[in-house]
Amino acid sequence: MSLNWIHAALLSEMPDSGVLECVVDGQIVALFKTDDGYHAVDGICPHQGGSLGKGSLHGCIARCPWHGWEYDVRDGQHQSIPAVKITTYRVRVTENAIEVALS
Ligand code: FES
Repeated sequence: MSLNWIHAALLSEMPDSGVLECVVDGQIVALFKTDDGYHAVDGICPHQGGSLGKGSLHGCIARCPWHGWEYDVRDGQHQSIPAVKITTYRVRVTENAIEVALS
């Protein structure tokens, strides 16, 4: 099955913080730039709906700006509650843009 790559952001739009919120096909997605590349996750924190794309990044750990829940951006795993895992999406980088496959 071929993936449906959708434009998420221009590379030039990624701020120095390495965290960017964007809308991909009507869905809020959080993009992260880490030392090992770009990652994308569902942008809505499952705790109370905080915007992960407006939070902060610490290595590969994203921190929700509302109450500080933390997730590994590589696999979506919550850092202290094993049962909580957010959706991650595949990412690819073209010449000047970041693309995400939602399914
Ligand atoms: S909404 Fe994200 S930690 Fe509460």
